[in-house]
Amino acid sequence: MTKPRVFVSRKIPPNGIEVVARHCDVEVWPGDGPPSRPELLRKIAGCDGVLSLLSDRMDAEAMDAAGANLKVISNFAVGFNNVDVDEANRRGIHVGNTPDVLTDATADVAVALLLAATRRLKEGIDQVRTGQWQTWDPNGFLGGDLKGKTLGIVGMGRIGLETARRLAAGWQMDVVYTSRTNKPDADGQLGARRVTIDELLAQSDFISIHADLNPTTENLFAADAFEKMKSSAVLINTARGGLIDQDALVGALRDGQIRAAGLDVTSPEPLSMDHPLVGLPNCTIVPHIGSATHQARHDMAEIAAANLVAGVHGDPLRCEVGSVA
Ligand code: DGY
Repeated sequence: MTKPRVFVSRKIPPNGIEVVARHCDVEVWPGDGPPSRPELLRKIAGCDGVLSLLSDRMDAEAMDAAGANLKVISNFAVGFNNVDVDEANRRGIHVGNTPDVLTDATADVAVALLLAATRRLKEGIDQVRTGQWQTWDPNGFLGGDLKGKTLGIVGMGRIGLETARRLAAGWQMDVVYTSRTNKPDADGQLGARRVTIDELLAQSDFISIHADLNPTTENLFAADAFEKMKSSAVLINTARGGLIDQDALVGALRDGQIRAAGLDVTSPEPLSMDHPLVGLPNCTIVPHIGSATHQARHDMAEIAAANLVAGVHGDPLRCEVGSVA
């Protein structure tokens, strides 16, 4: 019996590839970077399944290029803003993602960025690296305090909750959050309060973004949001770069409208070296490493492979987003 044909758009951890190769006729993109758009469209033609990364735009054009055999798009990420889920489901194509297994890893990076941005680690590391460290300075590198401050979580999902848990337990922070629904876990365990976005902006000393990127959240943090924030506030984003209007963020950081930012995600990725955010001392940027632990990536590979294999065989996905009627 011929095996279903699938394309895996990057070298994911071997445990995932092994499972896929056992059940499918698989081609894995050999490059260290993503396939270009024409390469992606060419490679997925005639495939039954695609294992995509967040850098692969899986829209109607890609689905057309894949053709009528396509049954599943298995995204190697919890976020799925790169996939047009409604369009896929309308065509009977299932969409999978990899939730839960990267929650702790990503929350850890949110906390790491919050500490780094608040205590000015980027500037300190730069001073050491460039040989400008002269002496212990009573007035050097003064940053903010964390204990007992107010943390605003934008999007109280799994990662938001774990980030809040760490900061509430470790630094006794009060937690406020925005969410489409009340979150009894956050309210009950952390004494968190659901508030409006304007209340969150005005009250928070630290804001950590964990919302989905979709048309309603794109550029959620634009000039008007920065105007409402405290001038001492620190903004953290481990979700998606498109949630922040980056030009407005440059202005807010330069003008002291907010104190600092810590970004694991930008738009685009990578951000070019000459982008103003890269050079700002009060903007700490890391290259989208939220889920980058050995265990998280191993587990993501396991789930993404399981989703792909299930989808090409018409079985229920282990983790599905949207629903095929
Ligand atoms: C995700 O899963 O959405 C992260 O951004 C990458 O792991």
